Amino acid sequence: MPDVDEIKEAKKFHIDTPQKTDGFFLKGSNSLDWGMKNRLARIFNPDSGRTVMLAIDHGYFQGPTTGLERVDINILPLVPHADTLMLTRGILRTIVPPSTSRSIVLRVSGGTSILKELSNEEIAVDIEESIRLNVCAMAVQVFIGGEYERQSIINMTRMVDLGTRYGIPTLAVTAVGKDMARDAQYFRLATRICAELGAHYVKSYYIEDGFETVTASCPVPIVMAGGKKIPELDALTMAYNAVQKGAAGVDMGRNIFQSDAPVAMIQAVRAVVHDNETPQKAFDLYNTLKHQG
Ligand code: 5RP
Repeated sequence: MPDVDEIKEAKKFHIDTPQKTDGFFLKGSNSLDWGMKNRLARIFNPDSGRTVMLAIDHGYFQGPTTGLERVDINILPLVPHADTLMLTRGILRTIVPPSTSRSIVLRVSGGTSILKELSNEEIAVDIEESIRLNVCAMAVQVFIGGEYERQSIINMTRMVDLGTRYGIPTLAVTAVGKDMARDAQYFRLATRICAELGAHYVKSYYIEDGFETVTASCPVPIVMAGGKKIPELDALTMAYNAVQKGAAGVDMGRNIFQSDAPVAMIQAVRAVVHDNETPQKAFDLYNTLKHQG
């Protein structure tokens, strides 16, 4: 049972009253130009209003992390089941066939490794590259509360300006600053700053308490980041709770490609995201597909 304070909080955010879409199916996107809308509609399925983004961009600061040692062998079989691939230009050009019909979200910020201060990023890809590669959005890391917070915010606003010139949306990826608690207040702050400064959609971690206030107070769609690997049923439960609490889908990496059965897992995630399948039924689907090989 929610306590009195939780009920007051929910009322303040009008949790039961989603923000208006005024025509176009994605919230906050109605005033965008045709090209922007068309690109967003290739990321978010217009029928469900949601997306399953497969995040495989970790190598840009982590190198060949577990599950991404061989993108050609481990990841290409997952591609037909994703709505969107989130990756770097290096992996896109070297491994992903240009015949793919999946939409591409290109990682455009970078410049640091796990050996250094991660928030010290720059824009690492020219806008012309995003045009040449026919991407549907550009992803920029934003470190609210991080050491280089200001620089990361300016990276994002720069890409919003450049992308607006050519009709390419910007995804702001909220990265948790070292000393900030990962709570609803933090994610409301981080996601709202990104949206206010022009991000077309925002990636946020899921939190158990108050995630619905994060999605309610952000005027553009939020996609849930997967985070570190957890058991499959827990990951499906997290994805289910996130979309039921207002997320417009997921941007998951490790919980898919580090699963015992990645192809089964991504299909189970799709069932939760696009079909509102319960976590247990999606987990049953995962097990069935896993044993089918
Ligand atoms: C890196 C990212 C990754 O795309 C993000 O971490 C998603 O992957 P995972 O689900 O493994 O957390 O944004 O900063």
